[in-house]
Amino acid sequence: MKKFFRILFTVLIAAFLLIQFYPRPEKNNGNTESEQDISKVINTPAPVLAILKTSCYDCHSNQTYYPWYAQIQPVALWLNDHIEKGKKELNFTLFGQYPVSKQYRKLEEIGEMVQEDEMPLVSYTLIHRNAKLDESQKQTLLSWVGSARKYFQNTHSPETLERKP
Ligand code: HEC
Repeated sequence: MKKFFRILFTVLIAAFLLIQFYPRPEKNNGNTESEQDISKVINTPAPVLAILKTSCYDCHSNQTYYPWYAQIQPVALWLNDHIEKGKKELNFTLFGQYPVSKQYRKLEEIGEMVQEDEMPLVSYTLIHRNAKLDESQKQTLLSWVGSARKYFQNTHSPETLERKP
């Protein structure tokens, strides 16, 4: 039995070392400053932006912060997968490029995700402890979503805000 575990351990270590040779995906750290960033197109107070940057931008923007362990496989691949999927759903860096109806809808989804503790992903906050939202941060985000949505309602016709298929 002891021999079995020794072999198993050796195989696991070898697999871990081998996977390090697997190419790391290109880093997601293109443009830092974008005129289309949500903070440029929607009134986003500094405390709100700080929360978004800490808790959401790693997967929902063109600027990911890479801690040292993000260089280790399979973490690098795993993180890249989240970034690709996350950005497809919502990219704060390019928020201003979305049609108005989509911006309005994304704001609602942000509220839902925060309200239901679905974002940031639990698998991520387990490691990134500081990304976890506490109650007051959640309230800050939710009231920001509320006023941003109200602003859209006051400045656009209901037809413009309606969901396009
Ligand atoms: C670790 C990466 C990661 C972080 C951090 C993260 N998200 Fe996401 N998010 C995703 C992924 C991946 C998806 C795609 C859907 C899925 O797989 O759950 C997604 C989807 C979404 C969606 C679309 C949900 C829908 O209705 O389909 C919204 C809105 C969202 N995230 C908001 C946020 C907000 C707000 C934060 C910060 C408070 C955040 N996310 C933090 C990875 C992340």
